[in-house]
Amino acid sequence: MQALPGFRDFLPDHCAARNYIFARWREVARRYSFVEWDGPVLEPTDLYRKKSGAEIVDQLFNFTDKGDREVSMRPELTPTLARVVAAHERAFKKPLKWFSIGQFFRYEKQQRGRLREHYQLNCDIMGENDFVADIELIALCIDILRAFGLTEKDFVVRISDREFWTDFLRQQELPTEKWEDVLQTIDKSGREPREKTEEKLGKLAEPVFSIFDKGGRSGKLDRLVDGLGARGLAGFVDVDVRIVRGLAYYTGTVFEVFDRAGKLRAIAGGGRYDNLIGQLSEGAVSMPALGFAMGDVVLGELLRDRAAAREKLEAGVKEQNKIDIYVVIAKEQRRPDALEEIQELRDRGYRVDYPLTADKVPKQFQTAENLGARITLLYGDEWPQVKVKNLATREESLIAGDALLDSVAKFFNISGSA
Ligand code: HAM
Repeated sequence: MQALPGFRDFLPDHCAARNYIFARWREVARRYSFVEWDGPVLEPTDLYRKKSGAEIVDQLFNFTDKGDREVSMRPELTPTLARVVAAHERAFKKPLKWFSIGQFFRYEKQQRGRLREHYQLNCDIMGENDFVADIELIALCIDILRAFGLTEKDFVVRISDREFWTDFLRQQELPTEKWEDVLQTIDKSGREPREKTEEKLGKLAEPVFSIFDKGGRSGKLDRLVDGLGARGLAGFVDVDVRIVRGLAYYTGTVFEVFDRAGKLRAIAGGGRYDNLIGQLSEGAVSMPALGFAMGDVVLGELLRDRAAAREKLEAGVKEQNKIDIYVVIAKEQRRPDALEEIQELRDRGYRVDYPLTADKVPKQFQTAENLGARITLLYGDEWPQVKVKNLATREESLIAGDALLDSVAKFFNISGSA
């Protein structure tokens, strides 16, 4: 039997690649002083019905549980975050800077870059109105991608502002209840034929396309780019007002990250959602917020596509499943001795392996190489000594059993532990 469509099996190397991605995510989020949190993977379906917008609701993995509750596997984290923060905000000093790594589920048509489960890093700042928070968040997003060895030649953050469009719609005197539809049409315009967008926009088509052609700008967007420029990050961003994002809760700055070549789907997306926490607490708590999520699927495709990033990824994968020491048991009589030593070495934190059952010595050395061991310890005829071999240099030395731990420690201290 196979996995369901859109669901992945993670074989050891895939798991190591996933761990490598998670490790970079965690490392850079911590550099920015974000703290880790998580929520439940199952939530009441209403949470998304009310908060995420039509597109995501169509994609829910939802069912009725045995207690007759309408529930959904989480398609995104933001509504959960807003719910949790609304309930616990008094326990925390503002602004809150929280990140989370978890799996999400959307019943989408499976295609390149889109599966039915994926992992996301979410980073959110809550309780800060000033747009310096927008700069901080976008800088974090850029620095995370840089940590994978990606450069401004590999990806671009397209920045926009929903207020730019809501100001425009106000000027056009469009009733507010129609705004969301227009914003969704603008969001889809890059993926749909121009005629379809024109038809949906009606009399707004002309002014909207004129803005697209001229490239809209605003004072706020210029200040954002300047703020990133002051950190040396201007080369990573472009103002592009065609970005409005598909989720309903965004209120201000919005951005999406794409590969420069424009071959892949979005790597990350986010923005300001200043009203969501207030709405979820029915007005009890009002708190501005902003954040983004980065998915592992498109990111993984980009990392494998770019030489420098791929090298880092492959090194990261290799590193994870490597061992330090392989114990070769050439004489079965010495197995008890060897096991005692192995226990000791593992207690000290070394990664150690050995043949569980008797095996030919050349095969054991081959296994040691395959597992990426740095040294072998051979228990053979030289009793009570042990033959230590450096697999990189092929150097061998005979060490007395009681000096072995020191000798191993010295080797890894000098040449660096794995
Ligand atoms: P989103 O744009 O829906 O935003 O998703 C963020 C990223 O998750 C996307 O750019 C993409 O890389 C990845 N992603 C989404 N769906 C799939 C899928 N079916 N398969 C593979 N990857 C996928 C949000 O989810 C917002 N909640 C982000 C946010 C956080 N806004 C504020 N805070």
